[in-house]
Amino acid sequence: MSERKLTRIAVIGTGFVGSSYAFAMLNQGVADEMVLIDLDKEKAHGDAMDLNHGLPFGSPMKIWSGDYSDCDKADIVVITAGANQQPGETRLDLIDKNTKIFKGIVGDVMASGFDGIFIVATNPVDILSYATWKFSGLPQERVIGSGTILDTARFRFLLGDYFNIDVRNVHAYIMGEHGDTELPVWTGSNIGTDPIHSYMEKYKPDGTQEDLDEIFVNVRDAAYHIIERKGATHYGIAMGLTRLTRAIIRNENSILTVSSYLQGEYDLEDVYIGVPAVVNRKGVQRIVELNISEDEKEKLHHSANVLKENMEPVFK
Ligand code: 2OP
Repeated sequence: MSERKLTRIAVIGTGFVGSSYAFAMLNQGVADEMVLIDLDKEKAHGDAMDLNHGLPFGSPMKIWSGDYSDCDKADIVVITAGANQQPGETRLDLIDKNTKIFKGIVGDVMASGFDGIFIVATNPVDILSYATWKFSGLPQERVIGSGTILDTARFRFLLGDYFNIDVRNVHAYIMGEHGDTELPVWTGSNIGTDPIHSYMEKYKPDGTQEDLDEIFVNVRDAAYHIIERKGATHYGIAMGLTRLTRAIIRNENSILTVSSYLQGEYDLEDVYIGVPAVVNRKGVQRIVELNISEDEKEKLHHSANVLKENMEPVFK
């Protein structure tokens, strides 16, 4: 019997997000090998030591701190490195700084001979996914941004809380920029299999659209609220990245709202933006085109235009 190929994940950046992701990956036993890479080699080394000490309590995984040459055999490179939002800063404020950092990182990863899938988590994630695609020369389906995966999770959590329903039975998406112009997709949102508004009429007659709108605002602004309190967000995104990694490694064909390259879907082109997509071993297998309303489509286009305007000076 031929030996199964070991699955390897390379994590670039072991700050809050990278190290929380590594911890979630270890706990969920998604891959065989995980290499941690950071400019601060001592930090990456310390994280690898710390995580390895958890192995007797979890499932087997080879974890070490390494360098870019270890990306050669990686199935997935997850980039979490770069500057993060300070209180009062928007994600878009980070474009210049992080695009420069990404040019170096993606160049170094590709120089290793890497031929897998990139997952991008650093903000502004949609623009840095585009940058990673450009800098790497890989096919667009193999560069995936975390997009609105976390916003969608926040949305489902808050709706589940409002209706007092298990979050896993709440089906609703946030699309668009992972940032201030994102939008809720009410069309097609369901609790169980009931459209959300008919569920509300039947089981929460005191509920209002204003309440639902307020839930969306809390989703959109969640990162600001967390950053004000603790300086960073990392557990939620780490679990979202782990979910995305699993969908790829296990060839799950899962629909996740990730930042994907559009070529005419939703009448948008040449932009990475958060949309529902089928994710499997090949990366983004297909964009799912929902029957969104005209108003939602307008908001999605506005969001894409804001991304394009901000990208233009960087990629012209
Ligand atoms: C978040 O939404 C800051 O993008 C990060 O938590």
